[in-house]
Amino acid sequence: MEATPTATGVSSPRASTPPTARKVLILTGGGDAPGLNAVLRAFVKRATSHGIQVLGSEDGFAGLLEDRPRIRTLDVAAVRGILPRGGSILGCSNLANPFEYPVGPKGKQTYEDRSARVAERLHELGVETLVLVGGDGTMSMGLRFQELGIPVVGIPKTIDNDLDATDFTFGLDTAVDTATWAIDALHSTAESHDRVMILELMGRHAGWIALCAGVAGGADVILIPEIPYDVERVAAKIRERSAAGSTFSIVVVGEGAFPAGGAISTLTKGRKGHLPRLGGAGQHLAALLDGKCDHEIRVTVLGHVQRGGSPSSFDRLLGTRFGVKAADLCAEGRTGRLVALRGTVIRSVPLEEAVAKAKLVPPDGELATAARAVGIELGG
Ligand code: F6P
Repeated sequence: MEATPTATGVSSPRASTPPTARKVLILTGGGDAPGLNAVLRAFVKRATSHGIQVLGSEDGFAGLLEDRPRIRTLDVAAVRGILPRGGSILGCSNLANPFEYPVGPKGKQTYEDRSARVAERLHELGVETLVLVGGDGTMSMGLRFQELGIPVVGIPKTIDNDLDATDFTFGLDTAVDTATWAIDALHSTAESHDRVMILELMGRHAGWIALCAGVAGGADVILIPEIPYDVERVAAKIRERSAAGSTFSIVVVGEGAFPAGGAISTLTKGRKGHLPRLGGAGQHLAALLDGKCDHEIRVTVLGHVQRGGSPSSFDRLLGTRFGVKAADLCAEGRTGRLVALRGTVIRSVPLEEAVAKAKLVPPDGELATAARAVGIELGG
């Protein structure tokens, strides 16, 4: 059911609305991403206009699971002024997985399934629908709750842009802007010192941030997880530039990139139910390049700067559109769904699609082809 525009321009559900959720709980799961507050603001405003009361769980599922619950009422006043703010006013957690919840002292933790407690708490609070803002991990949890009989609506978030169910997640655009700024800054110092500058960017197993920022920033080499690289090609590109009179080079490397036949660089093994922490791809490449070119090499790891700061206008806009659509789904009682951008339109798709397939950079797709066409070496 679509909302009906009124004379005031504010939409309201049609009279034939199926049973509506009167109270919902929203949380921001996983790592943060610029645009989360835009989602919360839009969701609360729209839900309120539908007559739905909104609660928020602090720090993802932690606020619901702890012995002393941390649940807030989110009304229009609570979301005032938050549109340009980075992070999430609710806080985020990528440790509070209700199906593998850590208990006991650090170092000696065991893991418990606390999903029944989530169900109990929601029942006590009178919550009818759980609204999850998160990436693939949070959406997998959402799917399990939906299967357990708790209605769920999902909103896709991640700077990695690796959810196939939506053309874009919010957060990517701001991360790419930040990374492009870093490449611009590295150009001048690289040129002054005739150096090879390696910039390691986030993205886990998807190279969207590295490829988009690398192209936008005019990098000479971009290495992404989807294209295992040959270090000889990287060295040859640097030498070719030197021979042509360019005494420096900018190499962008996604944190999940690895040499053909080699392995992904990790910092720590993931604990139970979690992914390993990636890191070290830039240093690894520097070691492989050592002796293969005449330049000094320096490595910059941009890290969580990519997740911080005020969201770009694109991310504010996408977050707002997602928040409005999610509130409409709650009002319509259409749960088990994920809001998604398809082309230029916001739609919803079954929650299963959120976790069915990761969206990776096609190695010979249009974007990679455009990068190669402007002389960027992709390493393989
Ligand atoms: O998935 C988003 C992301 O920022 C990845 O790009 C990165 O590998 C990871 O999260 C970092 O997670 P953490 O905040 O746990 O270090």
